[in-house]
Amino acid sequence: MSFPIERPRRLRQSAALRRMVAETRLAPEQLIQPVFAVAGENIVRPIASLPDVHHYSIDRLIPYVREVAARGVSAVLLFGVPEKKDAHGSEAASDDGVVQRAIRALREAVPDMIVMSDVCLCAYTDHGHCGVPVVGRQSPEGQSSVVSRQSSVKTPLVSLLPTTDDRSINNDETLPLLANVALSHARAGAQVVAPSDMMDGRVGAIRSALDREKFHDVLVMSYAVKYASAFYGPFRAAQDSTPQWGDRRSYQMDCANGREALREVRLDVEEGADLVMIKPALPYLDVIVRVRAAVDVPVVAYQVSGEYAMQKLAAAHGLVDERAVMMESLLAMRRAGADLIITYAASAVAEWLA
Ligand code: PBG
Repeated sequence: MSFPIERPRRLRQSAALRRMVAETRLAPEQLIQPVFAVAGENIVRPIASLPDVHHYSIDRLIPYVREVAARGVSAVLLFGVPEKKDAHGSEAASDDGVVQRAIRALREAVPDMIVMSDVCLCAYTDHGHCGVPVVGRQSPEGQSSVVSRQSSVKTPLVSLLPTTDDRSINNDETLPLLANVALSHARAGAQVVAPSDMMDGRVGAIRSALDREKFHDVLVMSYAVKYASAFYGPFRAAQDSTPQWGDRRSYQMDCANGREALREVRLDVEEGADLVMIKPALPYLDVIVRVRAAVDVPVVAYQVSGEYAMQKLAAAHGLVDERAVMMESLLAMRRAGADLIITYAASAVAEWLA
């Protein structure tokens, strides 16, 4: 059968028909809103690198998250901006840290919202890496402590030139630190912990630490397929987590590789990941397709800061329609096979959908 019998346009002739035959849909409960908690009180501070995203002190975070919940968004992914940094990122596992306090406050004040927490060291270490450096190689100048890194906004992001720095991050020494961070989040009440460091074996280390402490019901959402991407720039400015030397290419994935993503996902599922994430999203739709076909756990796509900021800035310049490009991007991720999407636009999108 072919033209003139077959006419694909027949199915497109009205909005009602198009809606009826749409293969892919987007609903608020498929969205996850990242949020940034800072110490202090009465703070709602716009993040310069992420239009319409703010740093909130805990007292102001609560009403904001209540509003996000009212729009039907399922979960928030919590990031903290700590006050202190050191070589081992010790603040990250403190029961009194800003993230742990925010988790407790949110669980109490907004019980229907699922609280997910990012588990990493990079915002807490003075060198800005996601793990501990190999001993004796703390920093290029020999100093191990750079306390204020506010100037990181201007630091070049992941450069596309070959890495010249061979200092490396100690995988196995990092694992217990990550497990402690995850445990402190679980003790505070996080329902989902999300390791974003890309150390080998961290899902297993976190799962067994959680189980040992009887947190069997706490889920692990692994950043299973996390590329060493230039699209994280606006986020690093927001969380002050730019590496102070070298880059993250000895632990995050090479953007040339697709097959390797399946290996990362397989290992994380074997180690106990309940959900697996791919990040960034739009430049890696092929990876989402392959991962969706390979595993039976929910697949999550993270529309990262650079993807979001590029759209917002282009829209602000009148070059694209903000809503249309956002909806098209998110639908593309769903079409590729993502069950859930993490996006800085989650709350806004949920409102558009209503
Ligand atoms: C921390 C972390 C990063 C992101 C999420 N968790 C930054 C990085 O790995 O450099 C990026 C999020 C975004 O760009 O939106 N490890």
